[in-house]
Amino acid sequence: MLGMPSRLVCALQLASSVLAVAAGLTPSCKAVPGTPGWPSPEDWDSLNESLAGRLLQPSPPGAVCHPGQGTYNANECPAVRAAWSTYDFHQADPVSMDWNQWANDTCLPQEGAPCSGQGYPVFVINATETRHVQLGVQFARKHNIRLVVRSSGHDYVGRSNAPNSFSIWVHHLRGVKNHESFRPSRCKVTIDGAAVTVGGGMQMWELYNELDAVNRTIVGGGGKSVSVGGYVTGAGHSLLSARYGLAADRVLEMEVVTPKGEIVTANECQNKDLFWAMRGGGGSTFGVMTSVTMQTVPSPRIEQLIVIIVTTDNANTRPIFDMIAYVISQFPSLGDQGLSGYSLFFPAFPNPFDGGNTTVGGMLMTAALQDSSPEAMHKLWDPVLAHVNTTWPGKFQVFYTPKSHPSFLSWYAENYDTSEAGLDSYLGSRLLDETALTANLTKSAEAFEGFAGGSLATAYLVSGKGVHDAKPRGCGNAVLPAWRKAYVHATFGIEAPPLDPAGTETVKKQVKKRVAALRELAPNMGAYMNEADYEEPNFQTEFWGSNYKRLLHIKRAIDPDDVLWCTPCVGNERWEQVDDRLCRVVK
Ligand SMILES: Cc1cc2nc3c(=O)[nH]c(=O)nc-3n(C[C@H](O)[C@H](O)[C@H](O)COP(=O)(O)OP(=O)(O)OC[C@H]3O[C@@H](n4cnc5c(N)ncnc54)[C@H](O)[C@@H]3O)c2cc1C
Ligand SMILES: *[C@@H]1O[C@H](CO)[C@@H](O)[C@H](O)[C@H]1NC(C)=O
Ligand SMILES: *[C@@H]1O[C@H](CO)[C@@H](O)[C@H](O)[C@H]1NC(C)=O
Ligand SMILES: *[C@@H]1O[C@H](CO)[C@@H](O)[C@H](O)[C@H]1NC(C)=O
Ligand SMILES: *[C@@H]1O[C@H](CO)[C@@H](O)[C@H](O)[C@H]1NC(C)=O
Ligand SMILES: *[C@@H]1O[C@H](CO)[C@@H](O)[C@H](O)[C@H]1NC(C)=O
Ligand SMILES: *[C@@H]1O[C@H](CO)[C@@H](O)[C@H](O)[C@H]1NC(C)=O
Ligand SMILES: *[C@@H]1O[C@H](CO)[C@@H](O)[C@H](O)[C@H]1NC(C)=O
Repeated sequence: MLGMPSRLVCALQLASSVLAVAAGLTPSCKAVPGTPGWPSPEDWDSLNESLAGRLLQPSPPGAVCHPGQGTYNANECPAVRAAWSTYDFHQADPVSMDWNQWANDTCLPQEGAPCSGQGYPVFVINATETRHVQLGVQFARKHNIRLVVRSSGHDYVGRSNAPNSFSIWVHHLRGVKNHESFRPSRCKVTIDGAAVTVGGGMQMWELYNELDAVNRTIVGGGGKSVSVGGYVTGAGHSLLSARYGLAADRVLEMEVVTPKGEIVTANECQNKDLFWAMRGGGGSTFGVMTSVTMQTVPSPRIEQLIVIIVTTDNANTRPIFDMIAYVISQFPSLGDQGLSGYSLFFPAFPNPFDGGNTTVGGMLMTAALQDSSPEAMHKLWDPVLAHVNTTWPGKFQVFYTPKSHPSFLSWYAENYDTSEAGLDSYLGSRLLDETALTANLTKSAEAFEGFAGGSLATAYLVSGKGVHDAKPRGCGNAVLPAWRKAYVHATFGIEAPPLDPAGTETVKKQVKKRVAALRELAPNMGAYMNEADYEEPNFQTEFWGSNYKRLLHIKRAIDPDDVLWCTPCVGNERWEQVDDRLCRVVK
């Protein structure tokens, strides 16, 4: 963690690892190419053979833009450069990451930028079967090399990539199987209601389409290519969560390759600890999920309202944040009446109504009701907008656009996450409960202003009754308990300049300052690990709360040798990345 003094044994890498082996201890750092522990070419060849040729040694995806690189291709470069800002490009590549800093900016597709494979894995398994994953885990374990698990590469906290690593790419673990009801393996009970079993690399857009064909859907995410791997293990919030809970709350069973290299089924009747931990404990920590069975839900009609409340008179930000704090203070009661959605707020934003010649301050929300009516939507918003009008007469303009969608898929096709990838981007976030949102609007207005940091932030209404009252199978799951009180997941992202350590430090400081504003407002809540500051102080408590103790216990039991290691992840305290190696922390 940032600022934590770390005295590590890597100074005398070679000598110390030889000494450690001689003394019968495990080496102090994981092996990297060029050190004696790294597998030989023959080892890699024989692994490749056992995988029927599915071992890759990929070039950095940006290398096509760099003369001198093996894959340099002046014709392909412009297309790669153009596609770099899309999620589609990165999810399809075996090693590319959405957020450039997770590969240490080591091969950006820009002219003049340096290019090497330093920030990327060395070898990758293109897994299509559970057996491939198992061979990968066993190989990493045997050779004590750094293992990463990657699906789409969308991770905001950088867990799906590492330098000098060996990666298991689970993207091609496919398959969708519908069930009318489901009996978990070795259970006596059959769980009523439809469910679906999907491969560990499956992604939202394809699942929504598969299930729409039978008029159903899942609690799923906003990004088309977000995969079930990181999403379900991290908790998974959705437009539908206010009604149906988090994705992790709807899991009935998983197939998992454990860090010891065993293939197991985890459900409420067997491997119960693992089942508990893998639903909220985080990705690439307790095992590799090769398939997951989730309860599906009937695809709802979506009643949508886009609400914009803005002022062009934004020299004084005070009333803007008073208005924002007021509207967000209504989310708990609106949420209890079935509303969910995504809001953005900002003190000054290019005015869309005059081509950006002026700025506006205020907020924008894409709100949704399920299986409801335009009248019901207006009934919810009328008193809120009337209050804004009477409290700040003439100050704000209100625009709203209603639309009715016949299915979740129809809503999603127009409202999926279209933001830009391919940047150096740092996130911050906080979960907020009813008390934080409603107790003192002066205080929350100040906190939201601090959180916005002069820029843009979000207040997602993606929790509520469905999450608060969820009854996950097998006596609960490892989801951060604060979710059970939260209504709002508030987030922001800040772009940092690439290849600029000083500029990046400034951005990271801003992240910490902005998050602190909401932490102070809601000190006993926490943050959603999948969309948070990767250097969140006390991440163990902030991401898992009172579940951390049990999670750590399970991690030590299932992975005593830390075959899986990531940050910020459960049980990562014994190792730290030093330059581009992973080494044991010296106590
Ligand atoms: C555009 C966009 C929209 C998003 N919208 C939402 C949203 O609406 N709701 C929400 O909750 N989150 C959302 N997220 C965040 C999302 O949950 C995380 O980015 C998540 O980590 C993505 O998982 P992944 O498997 O696709 O990504 P990866 O980067 O491939 O993996 C993420 C983490 O999961 C691990 N992992 C991946 N697959 C497996 C597996 N099969 N077994 C074990 N570990 C695995 C990886 O090692 C890593 O630790 C969004 C992200 C993006 C980029
Ligand atoms: C693995 O084997 C396949 C098929 O023989 C080959 O094409 C590929 O280059 C090999 N991978 C590596 C990393 O050597
Ligand atoms: C990975 O495997 C899939 C399925 O066999 C194949 O379609 C794809 O081309 C492979 N990708 C790479 C980069 O080898
Ligand atoms: C899905 O719903 C539509 C419209 O109500 C209906 O016509 C169709 O038969 C349904 N399909 C299935 C597979 O239930
Ligand atoms: C924005 O300002 C430019 C320059 O003053 C002007 O030409 C243009 O008409 C303005 N656009 C709008 C939509 O007002
Ligand atoms: C706002 O208040 C004015 C009177 O001050 C009224 O004319 C207008 O209709 C109100 N608008 C809304 C949306 O309530
Ligand atoms: C509300 O918060 C403000 C700003 O933090 C503070 O000054 C005020 O005393 C608080 N009011 C109450 C009733 O606690
Ligand atoms: C990232 O790259 C820089 C050079 O640009 C290097 O100094 C630094 O050590 C690298 N960081 C890691 C974690 O490898």
